[in-house]
Amino acid sequence: MAESTKNATLQLDGKSFDLPIFSPTVGPDVIDIRKLYANAGVFTYDPGFTSTAACDSTITFIDGDKGELLHRGYPIDQLAEKSHYLEVCYLLLYGDLPSAQALEDFENRVTNHTMLHEQMQYFFRGFRRDAHPMAIMVGVVGAMSAFYHDSTDITDAWQREVASIRLIAKMPTIAAWAYKYHTGQPFVYPRNDLDYASNFLRMCFSVPAEEYEVNPILSRAMDRIFTLHADHEQNASTSTVRLASSSGANPFACIAAGVACLWGPAHGGANQACLEMLREIGTPDRIPEFIDRAKDKNDPFRLMGFGHRVYKNFDPRAKVMKQSADEVLDLLGIENNPTLQVAKELEVAALADPYFTEKKLFPNVDFYSGIILEAMGFPTSMFTPIFALSRTVGWVSQWKEMIGDPQNKIGRPRQLYLGSTARDYTDIEKR
Ligand code: CMC
Repeated sequence: MAESTKNATLQLDGKSFDLPIFSPTVGPDVIDIRKLYANAGVFTYDPGFTSTAACDSTITFIDGDKGELLHRGYPIDQLAEKSHYLEVCYLLLYGDLPSAQALEDFENRVTNHTMLHEQMQYFFRGFRRDAHPMAIMVGVVGAMSAFYHDSTDITDAWQREVASIRLIAKMPTIAAWAYKYHTGQPFVYPRNDLDYASNFLRMCFSVPAEEYEVNPILSRAMDRIFTLHADHEQNASTSTVRLASSSGANPFACIAAGVACLWGPAHGGANQACLEMLREIGTPDRIPEFIDRAKDKNDPFRLMGFGHRVYKNFDPRAKVMKQSADEVLDLLGIENNPTLQVAKELEVAALADPYFTEKKLFPNVDFYSGIILEAMGFPTSMFTPIFALSRTVGWVSQWKEMIGDPQNKIGRPRQLYLGSTARDYTDIEKR
């Protein structure tokens, strides 16, 4: 925990209260209000946590004005270009880039945990075939706590480590099997001679009748999508994992809670919603109509893939994703892709409109990722599961950090109560 270097003073009803201020390594100062209620008898009010730090952390930092995302200090664009997903997983989990030997050991550990308990197949088979893969993932990830009892004791550091590796290793298998079940094809078992991204692509696209040749450029693009989504500070799903975990719940239950939260269209569900929106727009001539709808206060429609709570200049992940989209479409020989065309023109039109620039609404990571995933052959329903599998390492790293933090307490927000004061029950015949 940081040391306080200065104080803020709150004047209230003629009394003054000193509140310690912490200075982070980067970012704005943080006022410590933990003793505010005990000393001053008031709560603070901050729906959506727009000004509230719920924890201290050393994992990820975002500077929304600069459009900067750092993992353990390393900029995301450098990691996307020079590193790969499993190395970034190691960095997030353990704090530093690994030596060659440490990376090899880590990759072996992950690779040795890619299979699912055979009995877990029956969980998949219990769902309707048309179930959304995210619905299957929420259920199956939660069900891991019923299969891996030997890694649910959160007080045991070794069990926490095993649970972390299991989650990172098995999530691609779970996501791929959710897809296979959804499409009515047989499950494909993992192959441990393949790298993480190639293995995932093969488990999704291989069928017993025909072997799937993994294209290294597509596998690299897949790996980059995983890397770009690996962690993102205290976002909604990560905060959900932390809150669930604050009660002492087991790691699989907590990560299932994260998957559920990610599903929403304001969060990880935006990639599916964005591609569906681009398809609905269909042709560039309809862009003005949709921009007008997004600006209309009486219309709930929003431009999906636009805007971010923290980024107020640009989303550095979107920049890399846009480049990747061009590369992948080029590789696959997809020229004049109408969805990409609409996306590019929509971006230009929105950025030329004062409504979007004044509110600092820019394309986010989800704006271009769907185009790449669609070109690779994924249906829109798989976009959010791919986000979930990529973000698992972020959730796990933040969960591990929280468990090891002596400040850790059960999360229990207060409220501004505006309901009725105490009143007597009225018998039904008198109402
Ligand atoms: N289209 C049109 N108007 C928008 C949009 C949008 N995409 N996003 C925000 N606004 C407006 C909003 O109406 C509000 O206007 P006003 O001040 O006049 O009421 C203003 O901009 C601020 O919006 P907010 O909802 O208060 O901002 P927020 O920080 O609570 O929400 C957000 C951030 C990402 C939920 C929001 O921008 C949004 O709904 N975007 C579309 C969904 C999306 O792309 N989500 C993916 C986020 S990145 C991946 C991830 O983290 O999961």
